Amino acid sequence: MRNVHRGDAIEIENLYRSFVFPDLPRNPARADSLQNLHGTSVGEAIYIVEGLSRAMNVAGDVCEFGCNEGATSRLLASEIAPDDKRLLWLFDSFEGLPAPTEQDRLIDDIAGLGSIERYQGVLLAREDQVRDKLALVKFPENRIRLVKGWLDKTLTSAAVGPLDKIAFAYIDLDFYEPIKISLAFVHGKMPVGGVIVVDDYGFFSEGAKLSVDEFLAAHPGCYDMKLPIEAAGKFCVLTKIAGVSPLRAG
Ligand SMILES: C[S@@+](CC[C@H](N)C(=O)[O-])C[C@H]1O[C@@H](n2cnc3c(N)ncnc32)[C@H](O)[C@@H]1O
Repeated sequence: MRNVHRGDAIEIENLYRSFVFPDLPRNPARADSLQNLHGTSVGEAIYIVEGLSRAMNVAGDVCEFGCNEGATSRLLASEIAPDDKRLLWLFDSFEGLPAPTEQDRLIDDIAGLGSIERYQGVLLAREDQVRDKLALVKFPENRIRLVKGWLDKTLTSAAVGPLDKIAFAYIDLDFYEPIKISLAFVHGKMPVGGVIVVDDYGFFSEGAKLSVDEFLAAHPGCYDMKLPIEAAGKFCVLTKIAGVSPLRAG
């Protein structure tokens, strides 16, 4: 968990708006969410906000896969305009991380546990922690869809039946398998212009980058992939530019 001084968060946001994203709209509510992130840099949060802002031009709901206690959910909620009718879908096991698979080789031992297997069960959170954070930004309860459970079950369950379009997805799951199934799920529901931010691309577990690289290889020409400036951290931003791979069509 990190604590950022409010003044520092505002200063960093101003720097990004001056030098990286000059068109990013201001939002007076943003500073509070930037100051209360858990393990997400302010720089990464600005990329998330910028991707979300672009995705607001297309139809669809906003999703976070791996919401934990809701620190980044709060950021997303505070960026969705109050008169916007989109739903905010938040997924988590609320049992912490699953067992890693063989693709999840440890590259950054962030908690000093000594092996990737020891991360199973880490990052345990509760649903009420998420709801409390969303209440702080007055996000309407009737537009929250909190889906508890393991993604391999929940993404094929009736719970996601009403989720037919996704404009923006933040995927923050750490390991190969859940990122892989979340990307496949989002791909089928995302219109052109939608945006996906995947955290930990090249950080913590090798599995995150591998999942993304395999996904992009399976859908050539469908996404524009951008990496952030180095100071912002390790993640990637995928903007959907074609529904069907132009290399495969016809
Ligand atoms: C790094 S945390 C998310 C942090 C949050 N996005 C934030 O920045 O505040 C990763 C979360 O993913 C969840 N998770 C990982 N694999 C999952 C799976 N297969 N199904 C459901 N949740 C999963 C964990 O429970 C954990 O809360």
